[in-house]
Amino acid sequence: MENITIARIVHIIAVILWIGGVSMVTTVLIPAIKKIKSKEEQIKTFETIEGKFAIQAKITTLLTGLSGFYMLYEMNAWSRYLDYRFWWLHSMTLVWIIFSLILYILEPYILHKVFAKYANKAPDKTFRIMHQLHWVLLVISLITTAGAVAGSHGWFWVK
Ligand code: HEM
Repeated sequence: MENITIARIVHIIAVILWIGGVSMVTTVLIPAIKKIKSKEEQIKTFETIEGKFAIQAKITTLLTGLSGFYMLYEMNAWSRYLDYRFWWLHSMTLVWIIFSLILYILEPYILHKVFAKYANKAPDKTFRIMHQLHWVLLVISLITTAGAVAGSHGWFWVK
């Protein structure tokens, strides 16, 4: 098996685990937590589960980036960044940058404290905003995934 095929397998498995987890948090975890009556219980449950997922997401994001850049290197396809028809490559890179920033910098240094403060003050509003943000991330990730599969197999939106 060629290295690039191995990289593609790693890329997709990592994307499944990562974006699948985002989907689970958005469509199951947060709605379930919103139903919990006690504020303390809500915060504790969310932090325990999302904290566990954050470790997985850090690993899968890293693997997605490494395998993605490796494929670009092997295919010598860097010039795709200069062609708007490869919008799905720009989109993959953007989604990856956004999540990496959140997971490695914003969450541990800023968001964790901000969440604890506002979830205590106004839990309903905090969980509502967080749910909306998760939906935005999930939708752009799914559009990106659809575009990447179609684009990698020769479909171009614009000729
Ligand atoms: C730094 C970030 C990333 C880079 C450099 C990257 C790069 C690549 C490359 C080079 C390919 C192969 C394209 C081809 O065969 O013509 C690919 C495929 C793909 N990528 Fe990414 N990617 C990145 C992030 C992501 C993210 C965040 C997602 C999902 C949200 C994603 C989903 C996919 C999918 C679904 C494929 C299609 C595989 C197939 O159908 O064969 N990638 N990526």
